[in-house]
Amino acid sequence: MNRVLNFGSLNVDYTYKVDHMTREGETQSSESMEIFLGGKGFNQSVALAKAGVDVYHAGMIGDDGDGFLPVCKEYGIRTDYIKKVEGKGGHTMIQIDKNAQNSILLFGGSNQKVDKEFVDEVLNSFGKGDYLLLQNEISSLSYIIDRAYEKGMIIILNPSPFDCRLDNCDMSKVTYFILNEIEGGQLSGKKEPEEIINIMLGKYPKAKIVLTLGWDGAMYADVSGARFHQPIFPVKAVDTTAAGDTFTGYFISGILENMPIPDILRMSAKASSITVTGKGASPSIPSREEVMASL
Ligand code: RIB
Repeated sequence: MNRVLNFGSLNVDYTYKVDHMTREGETQSSESMEIFLGGKGFNQSVALAKAGVDVYHAGMIGDDGDGFLPVCKEYGIRTDYIKKVEGKGGHTMIQIDKNAQNSILLFGGSNQKVDKEFVDEVLNSFGKGDYLLLQNEISSLSYIIDRAYEKGMIIILNPSPFDCRLDNCDMSKVTYFILNEIEGGQLSGKKEPEEIINIMLGKYPKAKIVLTLGWDGAMYADVSGARFHQPIFPVKAVDTTAAGDTFTGYFISGILENMPIPDILRMSAKASSITVTGKGASPSIPSREEVMASL
């Protein structure tokens, strides 16, 4: 049985409810502040685990990260490769406005201490056919991609947040891209979803592209000509944080189960729609039972 490794960030999210996103030069009082466990990496491991996948999470926590281990255990996320290092862990300040939209300020902390030695130590235990999920919130990303590819691992990249560190990564080694239309626009130089997909498939013909489109749902495409669109399930959103992470985790779970792509998209869209109705990043991610019951 092929294994699933998610090498990614773990952040403590300080989440502030605000009237509007704080403007340049403005001081705004928040209505409330709550602390949640998050990080794109951690949220995606939670989504995978809640979808029923046996997932190994690899990453680095700092002095303030002890809370992650019991929660991983509770969800069934394997913690063998979560290492504690000295110093501050990753954290964010998240503003949630009255429309449930967010704005995230990220401090990398221990996530940026992932070095080649740790990568080699983790990847030593994985091999051909194992799945590797990555986002762009940890250091040594290009090294991880190169080593994993040499080993024959199947690489899934969520290139988020999109920044210049991705320039060093050899994207031709990626099998699945799961990205939103902004990231897709930055990668392809195009704006329209169809154009983004065409450019990406031209550049990376072996890849499968999953493009999330906010209110317009999500699309899947690959070079075989397969293209599927999934609309959103409309809900009253409370907090949109981790909607994309939920989609990613559920999408991968469907791939592992060899489900037909339209069914995977539908399940992933439903899971995300439930996530946005709850507060916080990882706590709002629904279980597989909840998703299936709601479909
Ligand atoms: O995708 C949501 C996540 O992005 C938050 O949990 C925050 O930690 C940032 O990494």
